[in-house]
Amino acid sequence: MNTPITSAPFASGVVVYCRAGFESEAAQELDAVAAQAGVIGFARTERNSGFAEFVLAQQGAPDALQRLLGWSRLSFARQSLAVIGQFKGLPREDRLTPLLATLPAGFRVGDVWVETPDSDASKPLSAFCRSFNNAFVQALKRDGAMDPGSPWRLHALFPSGERCLLGLALIDHAAPWHQGIPRLKFPREAPSRSTLKLDEAFQVLLSKSERERWFKPGMSAVDLGAAPGGWTWQLVRRGLHVTAVDNGPMEEHLMASGLVVHKREDGFRYQPRQRVEWMVCDMVEQPRRVAERMAEWLAMGWCKRCVFNLKLPMKKRYAEVQQAFAQMQDSAAAQGREIEIRAKQLYHDREEITVFAQER
Ligand SMILES: C[S@@+](CC[C@H](N)C(=O)[O-])C[C@H]1O[C@@H](n2cnc3c(N)ncnc32)[C@H](O)[C@@H]1O
Repeated sequence: MNTPITSAPFASGVVVYCRAGFESEAAQELDAVAAQAGVIGFARTERNSGFAEFVLAQQGAPDALQRLLGWSRLSFARQSLAVIGQFKGLPREDRLTPLLATLPAGFRVGDVWVETPDSDASKPLSAFCRSFNNAFVQALKRDGAMDPGSPWRLHALFPSGERCLLGLALIDHAAPWHQGIPRLKFPREAPSRSTLKLDEAFQVLLSKSERERWFKPGMSAVDLGAAPGGWTWQLVRRGLHVTAVDNGPMEEHLMASGLVVHKREDGFRYQPRQRVEWMVCDMVEQPRRVAERMAEWLAMGWCKRCVFNLKLPMKKRYAEVQQAFAQMQDSAAAQGREIEIRAKQLYHDREEITVFAQER
C-alpha cells in the first residue's frame, strides 16, 4: 500500500549535509535558491559541523521542500532533507521515544537511515548510529510504521549523542547514498587518486540512463590537463578513445591500452579536429579562466558535453562559482544559446567543485 504524501508531518525547515568547512557556502546557496523559489526563511550554520540548515518562516510541506530545495539543485549539498523534528538533550537511556512521537499515526516510511554529519566531531558516533539504526527499524516495524511502498525515507542526523535532527526525504528526490557519500573503491590500476573524482562525478551528476546513452565504446573524448591519467583512465575504462593534453607524462600502462593519444600542448589553446562526445578538464587555473574556456568549447561545438573542475582556494567561494556560471551563460546567450549546468562539491573534491555542462 502506498503512503499518501499528504499524511507527512509538517517541516520546520531543510537540512543539507556538506563538506566540513563549507557550511557557509551551503548556507549562502540555500538562501539564494530559496529566494528564487519564493521560500521564506533564513539559513544558519555552525562552523565545521558538516551541515547547514534553512529555517522556514512558516511550516511547510516536506514534499514541496524536497522539490524546491532538493539535493540535485544544490552544488554544496550532499543530501537535503525536510526537517520534521529537532532534539537537544536527548536522554541516553531512551532516545527512541521522543523521535517516534514526532511521526503522526498512520504515517509510514520505506526506510530509516541514522547518520552523522561528515565532521571530525561526529566521527566517534559511527558505531552508535549502526546499532541505533537497528533499534529504530525494529521500533517502527513494531508500530506498523514501515511500508516498503512508501515514497519516504526517514533520516535521523546525530551531530552529537544528545542532539538529533529528524528529517524526511522523498526517496526519488534525495541522494541515494548514506551520508550523501557514494562509497567508491580506488581501482589499483588507475594512475592517480583523482580518478575517483571523475567516477563520482559521473555517478552524481548524470542519471543512469544518461550514463548508458553517453558512454559507448568507440566514442571520443579530450582530457585537458590529463597527466598522469586518472580521468583518462575512467574514459578508457568505458571504451572511449581519448586525446590526453598535458605537458606532463602519462602513465605507461594507460598508454599501452592503445586508446590514448598524448599531446604535449597547452590545454588553453588545443582545438580538436573533430567534434568529440566528451571533454573533461582538471587544469589548475582560476575558475573564470576555466569557465571561459569551457563556454568556448561548447559554443564552438568542439564537444557535446563536458565535465570540469573549478578550484576554489579563494575566500569568496560561493560568489566565485556564481560568477563563473554567469559568465558561461552570458557568453552562450550572446550567441542565442543556453547552457545546462549541474554542479556538485563531490566527496572526493577538496577546495573545489565539479561541474557538468552541455548545450540545452
Ligand atoms: C590536477 S592535475 C590532473 C590530474 C588528472 N586529472 C588525473 O586524474 O591524473 C592537473 C594537470 O593539469 C596540467 N596543466 C596545467 N595547466 C595546463 C595547461 N595550460 N595545459 C595543459 N595541461 C595543463 C598539469 O600539468 C597537471 O598534470
